[in-house]
Amino acid sequence: MARKIIIAGNWKMHKTNAEARQLANQIKMKATDIRQAGIILCPPFTALAAVYETIKDTGIGLGAQNMFWEKEGAFTGEISAGMIKSAGAGYVIIGHSERRQYFGETDETVNKKIKAALENGLNPIVCVGESLQQREENITREVVTRQIKGALDGLKPADMQHIIVAYEPIWAIGTGKTATPQQAEEVHGQIRTVLTEMFGQEVAEQVIIQYGGSVKPENARELLSQPNIDGALVGGASLKADSFAGIFQTAEQLSVSKKT
Ligand code: 13P
Repeated sequence: MARKIIIAGNWKMHKTNAEARQLANQIKMKATDIRQAGIILCPPFTALAAVYETIKDTGIGLGAQNMFWEKEGAFTGEISAGMIKSAGAGYVIIGHSERRQYFGETDETVNKKIKAALENGLNPIVCVGESLQQREENITREVVTRQIKGALDGLKPADMQHIIVAYEPIWAIGTGKTATPQQAEEVHGQIRTVLTEMFGQEVAEQVIIQYGGSVKPENARELLSQPNIDGALVGGASLKADSFAGIFQTAEQLSVSKKT
């Protein structure tokens, strides 16, 4: 069975509730003819409920951008998986490089968050990716392998149907520098090999691996046409309905024709 192409918009720390509602509404209008590709919106926590109200009667998915692994308690400022679920979300981005870089997240905390998300019925979008220095030192494969093994440690093959992996080379995030389709495909292939070692081929073949890092309507087709690139995690270009729609419409066209 073909893997679905899924385009997720990571709005990062953008959009008030009014702005979020407006953007979600514009996206909803542009997505009415999307049947095969998947769309997920990841607004800030504060706008989850507002976006949910806007898209709840559509096929568009909703995700948070982070979570804490505890269920509840004295953890000022933190948000649990259950709270995210109760706001209407079905997904949560975990281990984004900005969280690793600015908020001290590690493979170990990422692993705890993924397990808590799964226990609460949320589908994690697990981010991995190397820095520019690591790429220049030729250790991309080692870095990404370590991140995948660390993040998914202890998961069962059956858990993997709920996991989306996002490969986001840090040097391509918000920089306008995209990995070439070949560079991205190479790492996606390596990730699938690691997933095969961990969970078996049948499971690994079904895991959606998104690419993230300066994805725009202009480069989406070439990236999404690669055999192991099954979607995109979009930052900047997801903040405007036109550019985000340009990407999911390309995904829809490719979905109709695509691959294993
Ligand atoms: P940009 O699309 O702005 O490069 O951001 C990518 C990203 O970090 C998505 O999570």
